[in-house]
Amino acid sequence: MARDLNAEPLFPVDEIQADILVGLKKRHEHLMFFKIVNVVTFKKFLASLHLTSMQDTLAQQALIDDNKTANPGKVIPTPGLNIAFTRSGLAMLGVALDDAKHAAFSAGMHNRQTELTDPPSSTWAVLRPSHDMHGVFVVTGASHAEVVDVISLRLAPPDENGWKLLHTEVGQVRPDPVAGHEHFGYADGVSQPGVRGRIPLNADPTPPTAALTPTKPGAEDSQGQRGQDLLWPGEFVFGYPGQNPNAPSFETQGPVKAPPIPFMDHGAFLVFRRLAQKVPEFNRAVKLAAQSITGTANPMNPDLLGAQMVGRWKSGAAIINAPQADDPSKAEDTDDVNNFEFGGDRKGLVCPFAAHIRKAYPRDDVPGNTTPTDTQANHAEAHTQTHRMLRRGIAFGPEVTESEALNERSAGGDKARGLLFKCYVTSIEHQFEFVQQSWCNNVDFSQPESGIDPIIGQSNDPLRFFAGAAPQSGNPADKPQLELAGFVHLEGGAYFFAPSIAKLTELAKAP
Ligand code: HEM
Repeated sequence: MARDLNAEPLFPVDEIQADILVGLKKRHEHLMFFKIVNVVTFKKFLASLHLTSMQDTLAQQALIDDNKTANPGKVIPTPGLNIAFTRSGLAMLGVALDDAKHAAFSAGMHNRQTELTDPPSSTWAVLRPSHDMHGVFVVTGASHAEVVDVISLRLAPPDENGWKLLHTEVGQVRPDPVAGHEHFGYADGVSQPGVRGRIPLNADPTPPTAALTPTKPGAEDSQGQRGQDLLWPGEFVFGYPGQNPNAPSFETQGPVKAPPIPFMDHGAFLVFRRLAQKVPEFNRAVKLAAQSITGTANPMNPDLLGAQMVGRWKSGAAIINAPQADDPSKAEDTDDVNNFEFGGDRKGLVCPFAAHIRKAYPRDDVPGNTTPTDTQANHAEAHTQTHRMLRRGIAFGPEVTESEALNERSAGGDKARGLLFKCYVTSIEHQFEFVQQSWCNNVDFSQPESGIDPIIGQSNDPLRFFAGAAPQSGNPADKPQLELAGFVHLEGGAYFFAPSIAKLTELAKAP
């Protein structure tokens, strides 16, 4: 069916915080966790705080696009500031909450240890639970200097503005040519859900509108980029239609995701996790596991095994599109990087069922069924599309040193590195927690004995099962049966709520 843009909602782009639907433009990011020390002063500070809206970031994006051809290489300033609060932070500001309607947010990540198979919060390196953590400032920029400029111009001095800094996490994009790659080396941020909805094109009172996620040439009407399914925005921001898990197809518009309380309209929950990555240990394990796979039926090497574990080559090319060797024509920044489903690989012979991207977004896979009809696959996909998230992570920590590489061990301490994982959703339980728990940590998803996600799967066992692929022989019996340690460790995290700029201003100005 042709895309009817007029049936899609028009976003109030000056009201919704930029990081949710657009994503703050960043090469550097400081996450500044704070406590409110004086409510009256803090509210006064909030009332005049310049938060970066969708509109601001879309304007920055337009400038970046304009300069791409005119001034290639020119760095465009992209200062950004967003804010989100914990449950105790909102309560402190006088927001009347309804805990039954947002149970995970109210409980806090530290109380969801059992659900997530997380390490106990008493062992976390950062953000150990306390009622004193009230919120986080998300500060971004094209450089460190730009980030500190935002801090001095908009946030300082804390004591005169009613807040106190508890902790900072510093993220930065890795240096070229691995900019945008996470520390294991794989291109990250490649696949995001397309979001239905319109944005105004200029400030005219009745401006023409455009799609937030335009349908690109060659893509289907229900897609943004080829293979990027368009979802209704209620999955990511309250007050809009969402997806319908029981629909015959994901294209069907679902019911409006009403805000649990009026204050939450046009806002979203923010999940934050500091995930340490043991990079030399990961590389050693991939190398040894690849060597252990002998015989000629499905020749193995470390690059191929790593790609099977992630589901993509380091370039971003999906292994489904490049089963034996990396293919630059399908890599990040190409039109086909997300142009695939798993329906042509129902037995997991090319992309393992437990590969990170197949666990975290199984596309048209049907749980427990490797011979589904088209109707069953479409139903399953409609269900899957209710478990998506807008990921906004960034790498933290230094590059691996020569001595760490030679010793095949992480040095730890100030050499710790990993991902500051962030995502925005309207249900922490059904989106982030569901994906982590029911898919990534579940050895039997999407098919029995698939294994645990080797990147982010969590288990109480030190070694986790992973069934590889058998692309050459095409014989499921040849799939390597591996046991791998965990290389990603949760070091702390929290659940937040990112309100709309309008609701926040209203709250700040209320007596
Ligand atoms: C250190 C931890 C992590 C690493 C190294 C990592 C790495 C990656 C990589 C390399 C990709 C492929 C590129 C892309 O599509 O953007 C990816 C995709 C993805 N990751 Fe992660 N990730 C991590 C944590 C997480 C967490 C905690 C979740 C959520 C529970 C998650 C969910 C996803 C999803 C949903 C996708 C997109 C899949 C798709 O659309 O095909 N990741 N990740």
